[in-house]
Formats: sequence, structure tokens, C-alpha cells
Amino acid sequence: MPELIPVLSKEDIHKRVSVVARKISSDYRNHELVVLGVLKGAFIFLSDLVRHLTIPVKVDFIRLSSYGSGTVSSGKIKLTQKIEIDLKNKDVLIVEDIVDTGLTLAYLVEYLNSFDPKSVKICTLLDKYERRKADIKIDYTCHVIHEGFLVGYGLDYAEKYRNLPGIYHLQLNSEERP
Ligand code: IMP
Repeated sequence: MPELIPVLSKEDIHKRVSVVARKISSDYRNHELVVLGVLKGAFIFLSDLVRHLTIPVKVDFIRLSSYGSGTVSSGKIKLTQKIEIDLKNKDVLIVEDIVDTGLTLAYLVEYLNSFDPKSVKICTLLDKYERRKADIKIDYTCHVIHEGFLVGYGLDYAEKYRNLPGIYHLQLNSEERP
């Protein structure tokens, strides 16, 4: 059985999300903000984040996939659900669950810029920097980690563990690794 080592409790996450939401609400005062969640991993984070925001927002989702059922990025990013809101001249805030190599976000920022938005910024629940390959600027982060594979609060391993209220480090035995 894989081992789950606690990283952030439900209460830790709540505190961090509310701090980041306060900053976003202040930075985007008097702006028309489009919050764009990256499915599936960001669905819980986004739903908590927007409920802490004190500014009006529009919400949309995009679906990208770069990982199969393993823990290592395939490096190939596929867009599997398109944005419905018109982004021209809008301030867009990407909401992501975790930034690892950064390749997914580098691809997404470039894709979004093709719609002529006024600005594109990035908000992530977790910034895992050990394997960073793309030079991307993360504007809002709830928690920084060095390495490891995390699950819970929307993050999965082979579609499991998304529903855990906290965040855990998943330790796989050698025979369970892909
Ligand atoms: P990147 O393109 O390498 O930055 O990968 C980003 C995506 O990989 C995230 O949106 C997640 O879906 C997935 N990912 C990366 N690290 C983890 C992890 O520790 N747990 C769960 N998913 C992860």
C-alpha cells in the first residue's frame, strides 16, 4: 500500500488560500477579472479561492493533460477542453494545482496570449521547483515545496486521492512505481 505523509492540513490550506485571495482581491480592485481553472487538479482550490475573493469575477475552465497515470511528465501537453469566455482585453488569472516542470503553464500562457488578453497572471496552490524546466513567473503561491509527489485537495495519482481534504506526500513502493 502507498504511504500518505501529511504535508498541509485542511486548516493550513484554508489559512494560505485566504491570504492569497486577499492579495488578489486587492491587486485586481476595479478590474474585470477572469479566473481560469486548469482541470482537473485545480477544481477544489479554485472553488475555495473564488469564495474568498471580494471582487467580482468570471470563472472558466480549461483542460490540459500532460501526465498519464504515472508521476513523471510526458512533456506533451494536450488541450482537451476549450475556454468559453472571450478573453480579449481581459485580465486573466490562471489557477493551477501544482507547477512542476512549468511546461504546462508555459504552453498555456502562450496559448492564452493568442486571444489578446490585457494581462495573464498565474496563481498556484503548490510550487514544486526541483524539476523546473520552463522560465515562468508565478504571481501567487500558497505553498512552496522542493520535491516529491503530492496528492489530495484536487491532486491525484492515477485519478485517486483527489477528494482528501488535506495535502499528502505519496510514497510509492518500488513495485508500485510506474
Ligand atoms: P508541469 O507541466 O510539469 O509543471 O506539470 C503540471 C501538472 O502535472 C499539474 O497540473 C499536475 O496535474 C501534474 N503534477 C505535477 N506534479 C504533481 C504532483 O506532485 N501531484 C499531482 N499532480 C502533479
